[in-house]
Parts: sequence; C-alpha cells; structure tokens
Amino acid sequence: MVKVAVVTGSNKGIGFGIVKGLLKRFDGVVYLTSRDDGRGKAAVAKLNELGLKPEYHQLDVTDRDSVIRFRDHIKEKYGGIDILVNNAAVANSTSFYNNYEECKTIIEINYLSILTIQELIFPLVRENGRILNISSDCGHLSNIRNIYWVKRLSKKDLKVEDINDFANWFLEGIKEENFNYDDIADEGTVAAYRVAKVALSAITMLQQKELESKNISVNSMHPGLVQTDMTHGIGFYDIDQAAETPIYLVLDAPDSLKGAYVWYDRKVLDWYDYKADYFFKTSTLKTSTQKSE
Ligand SMILES: NC(=O)c1ccc[n+]([C@@H]2O[C@H](COP(=O)([O-])OP(=O)(O)OC[C@H]3O[C@@H](n4cnc5c(N)ncnc54)[C@H](OP(=O)(O)O)[C@@H]3O)[C@@H](O)[C@H]2O)c1
Repeated sequence: MVKVAVVTGSNKGIGFGIVKGLLKRFDGVVYLTSRDDGRGKAAVAKLNELGLKPEYHQLDVTDRDSVIRFRDHIKEKYGGIDILVNNAAVANSTSFYNNYEECKTIIEINYLSILTIQELIFPLVRENGRILNISSDCGHLSNIRNIYWVKRLSKKDLKVEDINDFANWFLEGIKEENFNYDDIADEGTVAAYRVAKVALSAITMLQQKELESKNISVNSMHPGLVQTDMTHGIGFYDIDQAAETPIYLVLDAPDSLKGAYVWYDRKVLDWYDYKADYFFKTSTLKTSTQKSE
C-alpha cells in the first residue's frame, strides 16, 4: 500500500515548505494542492527543478465541489490518506481591523473550511494517521478576553455548535457594528483571524475525540512568525525552518501526542490557559522588521 500525505494551500509559503520537506523524508506520495491550478503547477515545476516530485491536485478548501473532486480522486487512486496538513488560510492583513466582508472571508477560509474537510476528507484518513491543523499564536485561547467565551470554549463537553456560535457571535458584532474590540487581546487587532484560529484550535480537540478509535492524532500548532506573503515578508523564520516542526509532528512525534496545541519550538502548551502570554502582539511585527534590517 502506498502511503499518502496531503498539504492544503501548498503552492507557496509554509505549506510549500512542508511539501518540500516531506518529499525529502516521507516514504510515500506527497500531494501539493492549491486553489488555483496555474499557481499550483508553477509550484510543482519549482520542486521538479530541485529533483523533487510531488503529486498535484486542485483543492479549494472553501469550495465543496472541489473538496469532493479531490476526495474522489484520492479514493480512486490511493484509497486513503496517512498524513493531512490543513494549512490553507488567509490573513487579509492590509489593515489590523477588517470590514464585515473581509471578516466573513477569513472565518470561511480559516475556520469553516475545516468542517468541510472534516466531513469529506477525514473519513479517508487511515488508522494511525496524523492530522495537523496549522493554527497560529492567534489561535491560543489567551487571545480571547471575553470571559463568557473563554469559559464556553473551555467546557469539557464542548460541541461544534459552541465553536460555530463563537464565530457567529463575532461576525454578528462586526456586521451590526457593535463588536467590542476589548473582547479580543491586543486592542482587537486582526480580530477575525484570531477568532478563526481560536475556533480551529478548539475544534482540533473535538476532532481528536472523533478519530480516537482509529488511533489518528489531531494536533494544532503555531508555526512562528514566518517570512511569507501573509506577513508581507516579515518574520523570524524562512519557510524551510518553519516547516521543521510541522514535519516533526506528522512524522516523528510520539503517538501519545494527541489533541495538543504545539508551539513552533515543539513545546506543548496549555491551550486553556487564557491568562497566559501566548497571544499575538502586533508589536512583534515591528521587532521582527528591526531584527531583519
Ligand atoms: N506566516 C506566518 O507568520 C504565520 C504565523 C502563524 C500562522 N500562520 C499560518 O500558517 C499557514 C500558512 O501561512 P503562510 O504564511 O504560508 O501564508 P501564505 O504564504 O499566504 O500561504 C497561504 C496558502 O493558503 C492558500 N489558500 C488560501 N485560501 C485557500 C483556499 N480557499 N483553498 C486552498 N488554499 C487556499 C494560498 O493560496 P493562494 O496562493 O491561491 O492565495 C496559499 O497557498 C496558515 O494557516 C497561516 O494562518 C502563518
């Protein structure tokens, strides 16, 4: 049986770095996927120049038909998936405060798409497989300052409805123009991105429960501040460095690591520690620029 690894949104950035790293180490087929065919094939050509040979398939994580086409393709060609890295995301970082349409897009791509992937792609993940959700420091619970949501998201019997309500609470507030930015850390900067990533890290725990019986691990992680288009090139790490911990998590981490929130240095953090200092600070962007100058 051929083993299969899939990385979403991997035509550039950290996803591309993960595909590249996996091609060097993973004993199986590695799928580079992209929402845009042309950008995906150009990325494949780049890897081919390095002597690396990924498989390619179009995959737009917000387009249900695209996810179905990808599912059917994998089902027919390989029958299953062993490693799935949910990496695709947007930040829309032209401003630290997004309008309603931008917020909606960020929530759709960075959070709601995982529900489609969970429904359609997770059933293909084989026993002992590994799923990694690329979250962010914006995904740690300490980004949320609204105590009602901190408590609700920390519930032992958390349900997907709680997480969806959380995302909807945020979007409604933005739509009605009465959202209290003090409910989010760092003066509510990049609030939509924080809400989406907190939701993603929260659902990781539920996904772990769902897949426990197949001994599949589901973890989420913060890759560090990385020089990609998302950060306009600002960051402490390049994409190859940033790919190291994700690759460790899907290839080398102990089987016992499940439902965890992992930092870029491989440290497992307490996601529920809402008073911790792990939330994203926009001031880091300035520090990083100064360091790289
Ligand atoms: N860079 C950082 O400092 C940083 C920090 C914390 C977390 N992260 C997370 O790390 C991951 C990778 O980010 P990055 O910095 O590498 O960003 P990036 O360079 O902007 O790459 C994002 C990738 O996601 C793809 N994508 C966007 N929407 C998609 C969709 N609907 N379907 C499929 N693919 C889609 C993009 O495709 P297109 O080329 O078509 O746009 C691109 O390939 C993200 O989850 C991000 O939130 C990054």
